[in-house]
Amino acid sequence: MKFFLKPADPAKLDVDVMISFCWEEDLSKFTPFPSELSKDIKEAAVKEHFTGSVDQVLVISSHGLIGAYKLICVGLGDKGNFNIYNLYTSIARGVKKAQEIKAVKVAVNINNDLWMKKFTTNTVAQVIVEASTLSAYKFLKYKSEEEKKKERALEEVILSLPANKIAAAEEGIRVGKIVSEAVIFARDLINEPAEVTSPSYLSQIAEDLAKDSKGAVKVKILEKEEVEKFGMGAFLGVAAGSDKPPKFIRLSYRLTNPKKKIVLIGKGITFDTGGLSLKTPEFMETMKSDMSGAAGVLAVFKALSLLKPKVEVVGLIPACENMPGGSALKPGDILHAMNGKTIEVLNTDAEGRLTLADALSFALSREKPDEIIDIATLTGACIVALGQEIAGMWGNDDKLMTEIEDAAIVSGERIWRMPLAKDYKELLKSHIADIKNVQTGRFAGAIAAALFLSEFVGKTPWVHLDIAGPAYVEKDTPLTPQGGAGFGVRLLLNFLLNK
Ligand code: BES
Ligand code: MN
Ligand code: ZN
Repeated sequence: MKFFLKPADPAKLDVDVMISFCWEEDLSKFTPFPSELSKDIKEAAVKEHFTGSVDQVLVISSHGLIGAYKLICVGLGDKGNFNIYNLYTSIARGVKKAQEIKAVKVAVNINNDLWMKKFTTNTVAQVIVEASTLSAYKFLKYKSEEEKKKERALEEVILSLPANKIAAAEEGIRVGKIVSEAVIFARDLINEPAEVTSPSYLSQIAEDLAKDSKGAVKVKILEKEEVEKFGMGAFLGVAAGSDKPPKFIRLSYRLTNPKKKIVLIGKGITFDTGGLSLKTPEFMETMKSDMSGAAGVLAVFKALSLLKPKVEVVGLIPACENMPGGSALKPGDILHAMNGKTIEVLNTDAEGRLTLADALSFALSREKPDEIIDIATLTGACIVALGQEIAGMWGNDDKLMTEIEDAAIVSGERIWRMPLAKDYKELLKSHIADIKNVQTGRFAGAIAAALFLSEFVGKTPWVHLDIAGPAYVEKDTPLTPQGGAGFGVRLLLNFLLNK
């Protein structure tokens, strides 16, 4: 997809579709269109009960009155409540609609005073690039050539905006492209079948990425023998049931005199059968996506060498499969984690926290970071609590959590702060080991998982993002078609760039 900047003059365009926006109950503001066209819009709006509320889209023919065959109006809802999340989704809705009517070239009309007051031109441009690229995304690799041809791709997006804003928009376009490419990179990895994205494949991806970065990103893959030497018994326990060898991937990015050192840890279960505590077929269906955290971390590293934040970043991915093979971990087994703690495994399906426990211990003892963030498709319980669109956030440091929240507001990704209720640690008491990997009873599953992780971070500022809900989209949403979402990539990049 290509992006161009042009001064706002609807007559001078040469596109299939122009996407324009309006506030609720404020259709009069359809400038700068010729009055005949404005009249058409108003008529169509009455006939189709279009009031400009959020989610509403109106498509009308332009009758050659502007340089676009059709005009799409997207409702923005109430002015007072409009935020950057709405900016993302309203643009995405317009672009989706344009795609549905087979447009190849579209113009996005940004002649909107409030947008320009509320957000910088830079931001608006970046959001348009991201929203168009991400909403138009499709994973077609395994479709026939014939099917692929049917999907007419959107080729050009013209940002049509006031002439004095054009220069400022250029940087937004540059950043938007890098960021969307990273998200798409994550989505592609998640959408690939688990037979492709094995732990070895993820290592190869990490190595390729480092090669492409021209020295900015370095990578080291710890093979099973080295992982054993480090004493990562919890991670190795999970890997034991699979024929595929585990890989512990370490990525690093560093410019001279970094401000801080930040470790990002991504859950990299390349397929989660549940192990001997086998999942039912229904719950197993989407478990190729259990490496979404890892895909997110890899995607962040893909963008780092281009966006050049001022912090040092280390990415850790404990990658393995959770399978019920002959040597698999059994309920009742006790694992020795890298930090010396013993873990009684009562449910082999609570495997993510075991692999993350060792990655966290590795981060603490080997990296000595200023801050740690883990991102993981960790619990079904988090989906029960927050639904499929919102990730849960836990942590031991208010300032760090606020920084992550701020970054998420700007990226339009939804996260919600959850309690790290210390007294609930009771639920993880084992009568035989230091801790057990599932809580007593059915309740507070997502909190219990976060508390389990907290046993491995000590005092270092740490944030845990449980992305089990938003990592994989079951039904198309404006910004993400069904499948891997690449959730968290944009908020992590914003967070690193804000440092
Ligand atoms: N990978 C799953 C969590 C998950 C569930 C992610 C649904 C995405 C969608 C995780 O490893 C898991 O199986 N968790 C168990 C924990 C339980 C056994 C304590 C769960 O949530 O059921
Ligand atoms: Mn599991
Ligand atoms: Zn899992």
